[in-house]
Amino acid sequence: MPLSKHLILTGFMGTGKTTVGKLLAEKLNCPLVDTDAEVEKSVKQSISSLFAEKGEAVFRDWESRVLKEVLSGPPRVVTTGGGIVLRQENRRMMRSLGWVVCLTADRDELLHRLKGDESRPLLQGNARQKVEQLLEERRGYYRDSDWVIDTTGKTPEEVADEVISAI
Ligand code: S3P
Repeated sequence: MPLSKHLILTGFMGTGKTTVGKLLAEKLNCPLVDTDAEVEKSVKQSISSLFAEKGEAVFRDWESRVLKEVLSGPPRVVTTGGGIVLRQENRRMMRSLGWVVCLTADRDELLHRLKGDESRPLLQGNARQKVEQLLEERRGYYRDSDWVIDTTGKTPEEVADEVISAI
């Protein structure tokens, strides 16, 4: 099915955006682009070393720049980093140029999926406390989507099929 606009997956870390995005790209026979991977390509370093060397604000600037570039191209399945919703300009751009599907999961399931994760700079230290705080700060932003899909207890395949029937 050719997409008439971008299919954008948002949602907190650990909600399965990357896995579900890959399945969607296969099922829809559509190219896939991931904003975190694009940032890493642009800066030629990993997200965690970018955070460590330059800080979160510099990462957010790259993230917004990459999003703008991606959304100005042909329709694709776009997977995003969990904090892409923090900037209003990003939320507006996503809503106007794509279908925005936000994946969610129960807090306990998220904590379980993210346990021991060392690749995500925002979760280093007391992960439980950080997840709770970030979820609280972002809740309203994640709701600003065309669809919100709960992934709790579902396989990525089931979630991908749910996304396809939604759009
Ligand atoms: C972040 C989520 C990460 C990555 C960065 C910041 C966030 O992406 O962009 O570590 O602020 O929630 P994932 O959601 O793919 O883990």
